[in-house]
Amino acid sequence: MSTVLLRRANQHLLGIETLSALDIRQILARARILRDAPEQVHGVMAGVPVITLFYESSTRTRVSFEMAAQKLGASTISISASSSSVTKGESLWDTGRTLASMDPGVIIIRHSSPGAPQLLAEAMESVGNGAAVVNAGDGAHEHPTQALLDALTLLDRLDSLEGRTIGIIGDIAHSRVARSNLFLLRKLGARVLLGGPRSLVPKTLEPLGARIVRDVDEIIEVADAVMMLRVQFERMQGPPAFPSLSDYTRTYGLTAARARRMPPQAFVMHPGPMNRGIEIDPEVADGPTSVVAHQVRNGVAARMAVLERAMDVDGWSSSKDL
Ligand code: NCD
Repeated sequence: MSTVLLRRANQHLLGIETLSALDIRQILARARILRDAPEQVHGVMAGVPVITLFYESSTRTRVSFEMAAQKLGASTISISASSSSVTKGESLWDTGRTLASMDPGVIIIRHSSPGAPQLLAEAMESVGNGAAVVNAGDGAHEHPTQALLDALTLLDRLDSLEGRTIGIIGDIAHSRVARSNLFLLRKLGARVLLGGPRSLVPKTLEPLGARIVRDVDEIIEVADAVMMLRVQFERMQGPPAFPSLSDYTRTYGLTAARARRMPPQAFVMHPGPMNRGIEIDPEVADGPTSVVAHQVRNGVAARMAVLERAMDVDGWSSSKDL
């Protein structure tokens, strides 16, 4: 193994919107190798500090990033807003400059404000630090590694996304998962159908290439895969977005009866956390058409590939097979 593997190249991952289809294919190809050929996993990040800076709750995303970093040999340091100087009023800008001065390799950030990862990257660059920033979810903006692990999962079942139909159903308005998936799926040639209550499916996503379908049964009957999303009550203000939870489940939830209308090979995805009995029936969530556990498993591999890219390990972006 070369000793000059780690070159600081500021390979931030702030969103899917700015990636090309080739970038996406390269990350997915590398993730597949790291998952399927463990002998390809080297401690290329040995001695590199990776910081997870989470201003919002997380279970799977944080653990998955930390596991991915540790598998590559990195040492992980986790900071939660509740136990950091944020509680003393420190700005993200100052936090970024402080952390940058300690010269980490990668900072992974989750924040409730759209654009926070970009601001952090600018703060770090302002002290001349070359660490990469990876977005682990910024408000309702983007969640790029979720879209990458979802694509990996889709492509494990479908040879290509070209011409395939993917349904995304639920609270699209508050979902960074929906936005990142929409960008990615369109870049890889899929047709994206969005469904959910009028108040939670913004028309502004149509110019990005999505089609809004009012009757979710029409989506479920044709989609190769459906992604069910949680209603994000914590991001809502003002009057309720729909009359009651039971109305929501009846009209938009993936009930067992509705799931029986899916085409024979179709499958069900969910980024988690699930609200069982609201957007998805427990029988469906744990049933044979669900690939939820597989999504979580793929998350570690997708994030390993993202971390390698962030560190420009071995100039990998120019050398990956597609
Ligand atoms: C999602 C998130 O945080 O954006 N979860 C995740 O990262 N897997 C979706 C959600 O909170 O509903």
